[in-house]
Amino acid sequence: LEVVHLTAEMAPLAKVGGLGDVVTGLARSCTARGHNVEIILPFYECIDEGLLDDFKFEFEYDVPRGYEWDGQFQVGSLKTQVYTATCEGIKMVLLRPDWSECNIFKGGRVYAGSYNETEAYLYFCRAGLEFLKVSGRQPDIVHLHEWQTSAAAMLYWEKYNKEGLHKPRIVLTIHNMDNTGECRAEEFGVTGMSGDMFNTVEKALDERTIGHNPERLSLLKGGVVYSNVVTTVSPTYAIETSTGQGGWLSGTLAEYQSKYHGILNGIDDVMWDPARDLYLPVPFSTSNLKGKYFLQKYVRSGLGLADPVQRGERKPLVVCITRLVPQKGIHLIRHSISKTVEQGGQFVLLGSGHADGDFRHLAEHDFKDHPDVKLIVGYSEALSHFLFAAADVVLVPSIFEPCGLTQMVGMRYGAVPVVRRTGGLADTVKDEENGFTFDGTDEGSLDGALCRAIECYKTRASVWEDLVVSNMKTDFSWTQSAQRYLDLYLSL
Ligand code: ADP
Ligand code: GLC
Repeated sequence: LEVVHLTAEMAPLAKVGGLGDVVTGLARSCTARGHNVEIILPFYECIDEGLLDDFKFEFEYDVPRGYEWDGQFQVGSLKTQVYTATCEGIKMVLLRPDWSECNIFKGGRVYAGSYNETEAYLYFCRAGLEFLKVSGRQPDIVHLHEWQTSAAAMLYWEKYNKEGLHKPRIVLTIHNMDNTGECRAEEFGVTGMSGDMFNTVEKALDERTIGHNPERLSLLKGGVVYSNVVTTVSPTYAIETSTGQGGWLSGTLAEYQSKYHGILNGIDDVMWDPARDLYLPVPFSTSNLKGKYFLQKYVRSGLGLADPVQRGERKPLVVCITRLVPQKGIHLIRHSISKTVEQGGQFVLLGSGHADGDFRHLAEHDFKDHPDVKLIVGYSEALSHFLFAAADVVLVPSIFEPCGLTQMVGMRYGAVPVVRRTGGLADTVKDEENGFTFDGTDEGSLDGALCRAIECYKTRASVWEDLVVSNMKTDFSWTQSAQRYLDLYLSL
């Protein structure tokens, strides 16, 4: 099969969260099975070109671009440069708009530029399809991700399938319903096609309209309606989102139930393998856990935490690696810091996002130089690998979680997860089988699971060790899930 992904993230080139990991893991797994996979990614200014192999400029082309002039809808164009490369052995196409004409994708971080994101990703959708057309590619599957590339489904069926791109079937994966990509119909015009064809006051009265109010279009809904198949990243999240927890899109997802599938994410076993992790100075595996305990000591000393082993104590290291956004259960993370210490554990946070300020304050005041707590506000891929390796417990107290990767990475690195039973966390962690779970969103519910985990670590060392080994042996790789995607692709 020829598969093209159109995506806003790809690890390690442009990663903010799990979307980047998943695109890379799925693409690598399908490539390894002999399929021809290419990833089309915005050429963000912050991309580290050192991560690219066989990097080369291919050509420049014009991407149609709409604008208002004198009250009239006009179509001009934006020059765009195409670069190809490989990254992690995966074929990449990077699209860079002419930065003398616009500031799209400029800035020091992915999503953090001064450009308007809606405009940028609408441009990117049009640029991606136009690239397929001008380069003469005829992929079997165009795989879209999230609201950012959903508009490509709308543009494809309303335009490109009539203009030479006959073959592709369109697959959309929803990684998170938090953002449905709302825009005004006029904003859609930047694609060079008027948004009025998808939503008008009259059409808003029709259930199948792309918006949910006359003035707004939802790009994610557009993707759902216009794609041949829609997936989300765990079976439980597929049920949750089509039965009420998908916000106003639940009705749509229920209506399109027959083309909506929950496929559990895998974790990439090249990037996440304790036996050959390039970030770690010492590898480890189930047959040699000494490396893990060495790394734990190394991390404790590097972070200025007390070493319980030296004092003959058993203190679990509880680690939370997360975006600090409401989805992740900020109040529960905050509460678990002192609860862990009270129960005789140590706590390390590596987090960045909206709640940065709160945690920075805690780090600099309440827990400054604390022997059992280290709160690190920021994003660091390298540090995340060290922390997974050092962790005894990985905490994921999310309010909702489409899949979640850190509980699986944690298990692979010999940690035991404590998670709220929601979405993909419910699909991957079973209470007292491979971790500890809780249901409520209040502190008391979390305490139940966290205290059981700490107690188990402290008082039942051999049970804990068995848990560690069986978690490390569990297959969370892409093998099965990639096959499910391939079966879906082939069914189209
Ligand atoms: P989400 O995509 O909602 O953020 P996931 O659990 O699916 O949640 O994926 C998060 C990914 O991002 C994991 O690979 C995790 O290790 C990584 N990550 C999250 N926050 C940080 C951080 N502050 N520093 C480094 N890596 C992080
Ligand atoms: C999203 C979700 C997360 C999921 C990731 C990759 O960001 O929040 O649960 O694991 O995408 O699919």
